[in-house]
Amino acid sequence: MSHHSITLVVNGELQEAEVPARRLLSDFLRDDLHLTGTKRGCETGVCGACSVLVDGEVVKSCLSLAVHAHGCAVTTVEGLAQGEHLHPLQDAFMRCGGLQCGYCTPGFLMASCALLAQNPKPTEHEVRQGLNGNLCRCTGYTQIVESVLDAAEKLNGN
Ligand code: FES
Ligand code: FES
Repeated sequence: MSHHSITLVVNGELQEAEVPARRLLSDFLRDDLHLTGTKRGCETGVCGACSVLVDGEVVKSCLSLAVHAHGCAVTTVEGLAQGEHLHPLQDAFMRCGGLQCGYCTPGFLMASCALLAQNPKPTEHEVRQGLNGNLCRCTGYTQIVESVLDAAEKLNGN
């Protein structure tokens, strides 16, 4: 199988790799870079557990090829915290009960991150709409939405 050289920045670190043409971005991140925070769920683009940011846009990494991330900046859940300091979204999810089993959480965090970057003061409806590509079996969504609204307030300095 033919391999391709890719160069990309993942969570601020330059990565160079040889990958098969059809290597999924999710497999590249988890199995090659050992960034296992990105979850494999449905692997068909439905659940959002594998969501990462590619140049700031939410991408379902189970549907995306590693070669397509060549030249891009990828952020995974491991890239959110700053040293010991959780990202305000991570902190809010912990405080507001935005996670139970936690399997969906990395995907929700990345989708929420992109949402707040585009719309720093979303309404509840806009949060629900912005996260409609992510599924959670545990929380019933209300606490996830509250977590995102709480983080938005913190990020806006309220
Ligand atoms: S694992 Fe990618 S959307 Fe479910
Ligand atoms: S917290 Fe369990 S699937 Fe969302």
